Amino acid sequence: MADATLGGSTEAISATELAEIGLRCEVDGEIATITLDRPERRNAQTFATWSALARIGESLPGQVRVVVIRGEGPSFSAGIDLRMFTPEGVPGQGSFGTVATLDDAAFEQAVAEAQRGFLWLRRPDIVSIAAVQGHAIGAGFQLALSCDLRVVAEDVRFCMKEPALGLVPDLTGTKPLVDIVGVSRAIEICLTARTVGAEEAYRLGLAELVVPGEELPAAVRDLVAALLATNRDAATATKRLLRAAPGRTLEEQAAAERAEQALRIRALFASS
Ligand code: CAA
Repeated sequence: MADATLGGSTEAISATELAEIGLRCEVDGEIATITLDRPERRNAQTFATWSALARIGESLPGQVRVVVIRGEGPSFSAGIDLRMFTPEGVPGQGSFGTVATLDDAAFEQAVAEAQRGFLWLRRPDIVSIAAVQGHAIGAGFQLALSCDLRVVAEDVRFCMKEPALGLVPDLTGTKPLVDIVGVSRAIEICLTARTVGAEEAYRLGLAELVVPGEELPAAVRDLVAALLATNRDAATATKRLLRAAPGRTLEEQAAAERAEQALRIRALFASS
């Protein structure tokens, strides 16, 4: 698999820059694999992580169809770097103490910038998969929730810890969580900040697949292969339909299906 300096439509981000932030991104044909690579801190995330994720999304080569996000070491991600809660903060990135002094516009901009790192994972032209082992706490849980699919190891431990720390989950995780488990279960999971293990995650729809830890890479590979076997344009159009379905009436969705199918059938017959 080639180590990549990504070169899409926006400014590329080098492997060296990514390594300094604790990330890797390898592109192999139609597959991009993003690795949270700070296992000695359990892949804790910072504002730099989120900006880099956004830049990866923006500069992703056009041929990429599947994005896999994984974590090096025993845990997917222990969430935000807890140094953010200390007066010293994370070197070069400040602390929540400094964030608290921002005016409304600057605060809004800082959080929106962080959220950009998560939002692109839902775009229709790619399928995103989180491969999750061990802990996925706070920002780690939200990163997994940002992906279309979650393949988890039997030792997975999801936890929305933010309310226990006096914060709300603000890295775009509340919407997918509610969409998947419903409002009441989401309230219970978030407001108790409890841990959700593999069996429950599967039952609630938070995981599409649960496998023994050593089988996680192979399970992801198999899923990726199956996803790549379908027609790309049809997959993009179908994901666009499915993602929009919860916000539409049945009639609106039926109309959207007709519109997408018209494009598909015309494209198929134009090329035959
Ligand atoms: N930030 C910074 N460092 C972290 C970290 C974090 N979130 N989580 C773990 N580390 C560091 C530890 O300090 C430790 O460092 P040292 O070796 O220097 O002591 C190292 O990683 C290994 O940690 P553990 O020995 O604790 O590893 P473990 O495998 O036994 O436990 C764990 C793993 C359960 C994830 C535990 O480390 C833990 O509970 N971490 C904190 C989780 C947390 O509270 N995260 C915040 C979530 S809220 C959030 O994310 C908010 C937001 O988005 C705004």
